[in-house]
Amino acid sequence: MTVSRPSAPMLAAIAAVPALLLAGFAWAGGWIGPARIGGGTIANALEYNAGKHDGYRRAHAKGVCVTGTFDASGGAATLSRAGVFVRGRYPVIGRFSTGGGNPFATDGRNVFHAMALQLTGPDGQVWRMAMDHTPIFPVATLDAFIALQRASRPDPATGKPDPALMKAYLAQHPETKVYQDYIAAAPLPDSFANGTYYSINAFRFIDRAGASHAVRWAFEPEAAFGALDKAKLADLPADYLFTDLGARLAKGPLRWRMTVTVAAPGDVTNDATAAWPAGRQKVGAGTLTLSAAEPEETGACRDITFDPTILPDGVALSDDPLLPARSAAYSSSFQRRALETPGPSAVGRVLAGKETR
Ligand code: HEM
Repeated sequence: MTVSRPSAPMLAAIAAVPALLLAGFAWAGGWIGPARIGGGTIANALEYNAGKHDGYRRAHAKGVCVTGTFDASGGAATLSRAGVFVRGRYPVIGRFSTGGGNPFATDGRNVFHAMALQLTGPDGQVWRMAMDHTPIFPVATLDAFIALQRASRPDPATGKPDPALMKAYLAQHPETKVYQDYIAAAPLPDSFANGTYYSINAFRFIDRAGASHAVRWAFEPEAAFGALDKAKLADLPADYLFTDLGARLAKGPLRWRMTVTVAAPGDVTNDATAAWPAGRQKVGAGTLTLSAAEPEETGACRDITFDPTILPDGVALSDDPLLPARSAAYSSSFQRRALETPGPSAVGRVLAGKETR
């Protein structure tokens, strides 16, 4: 009996199977392929910049929980099949915050004013979003985000970033300079109630026929706009914005209109530093009504990460690289704060009569 020997190509094919499996494990484990930055590295960079504040969010650390409803007008149902766009009223849990990692920073700073929301649709699917009061962001990539945290760390002696480090960073990142010029000149809302809050990142809406539409959205306030005097920010009471929000809510609910902007062909969807040109189609989606605020330690937002990748069917990620990076960062921030013991929040201290600033 003759035993036929396996041919060379057959032997090569057999050897390739374990080699491919090993390569697959190495890729999944992050040992080969493009270097991937984990959420822990991002949280470390945020802590390096702002210090470590146990029990609080590593960014937008100073905040307050809010609750209310979203009344969908049905206007956005042609763009997205998400249940929350079907005409009706849906529950909302949210959070107002100011930018930065210090939960007791003064409100008199020219920083992001922010609104985060969780909308729950008729089918129980949730949509989380975290939005700032500017239509653009200082960086387009995670590498730049981390480099900016390092370059902009306040020097303990001066309270300001090291000018040499910032100069070197800005030489590599002109897009951050564009943002800095924008935020220096733009009016700063004098209340959380009269800010417009932008998704900044692009997303995709998927309609009932399965077609995809690149979009950004904003929540535009019903309250009349007023601007803080930037020359006098240092004179503001430390918790000015939060006290103002409580006072306004005590008088009645606050409202914003949700407006969806649809991209034109060629508009970039992977660059949060670039606004879309004016003149894009805008669609009204409904009205947000916020009626009550509660300190974080007892409020419904405490254990929510407003991770912008948690989306209902009918809303999908774009190719913006910040979105998966944000998801990793928010998760890592949550894992850290959930295992730590925070003191009362700034708003909790105000309500407990312990605030003397
Ligand atoms: C790579 C880019 C970004 C990183 C690494 C990052 C990181 C973080 C982290 C770690 C938190 C705390 C999350 C938690 O513990 O729940 C946070 C909160 C927040 N971020 Fe970002 N962020 C990024 C981009 C953005 C952008 C583009 C926006 C605006 C569209 C934004 C808006 C917010 C807001 C509003 C919050 C507060 C959410 C809340 O109230 O809980 N972030 N961010």
